[in-house]
Amino acid sequence: MTPDASAVVTRPAVSADFDAMVTLQSRAFGPGRFARTAYRVREGGPDLSPFCRVAIIGERLVAALRMTPITIGGDAGALLLGPLAVDPEEAGRGYGRQLVAESLEAAAAKGLKLILLVGDMTYYGRFGFRPVPPGQIRLPGPVDPSRLLAAEVQPGALATIHGLVARAA
Ligand SMILES: CC(C)(COP(=O)(O)OP(=O)(O)OC[C@H]1O[C@@H](n2cnc3c(N)ncnc32)[C@H](O)[C@@H]1OP(=O)(O)O)[C@@H](O)C(=O)NCCC(=O)NCCS
Repeated sequence: MTPDASAVVTRPAVSADFDAMVTLQSRAFGPGRFARTAYRVREGGPDLSPFCRVAIIGERLVAALRMTPITIGGDAGALLLGPLAVDPEEAGRGYGRQLVAESLEAAAAKGLKLILLVGDMTYYGRFGFRPVPPGQIRLPGPVDPSRLLAAEVQPGALATIHGLVARAA
């Protein structure tokens, strides 16, 4: 029988989760994922931040979300969301939605200002993400401007933030 959502546990990711997270990302996205500009921001940094989350059924990792602290134009207080990967066999059960919502709550509790991502408005619009005005925020590589989305954790934050994205020290 397929487990129902009540069998799922979500929690912050720990280092013992990391290998399974990478395996899940590779199943969800395929080998081309390393070419994405968002990966360039993350590379060279720690594997996990306190905002990364996983969903587990029993001992099986079914969804994983990475969140990377970044600076934008030199200012801290922002996170880069992604990758978000859900086991294809468990897609559409709300696990992705749950991890994103919980991570946004954690960011608000820590007083962060903004969450940035490269992804689909059709999925991320439900969490309050909106396209960044063209040219306001730049990543270290090419990005489809319509897929560069931001959610304000602090109302009004986006208007005050502009410049190049880098991984926070
Ligand atoms: C996209 C993904 C993260 C969604 O997670 P999920 O747990 O399957 O989805 P949820 O149950 O949280 O949400 C389901 C909703 O998302 C929508 N959805 C699923 N995949 C989508 C996509 N690629 N684009 C837009 N919407 C999508 C569904 O239509 C559904 O919409 P509804 O709530 O209006 O019915 C997951 O399917 C996945 O890992 N896909 C492969 C990797 C990927 O494309 N990631 C993109 C995010 S960076």
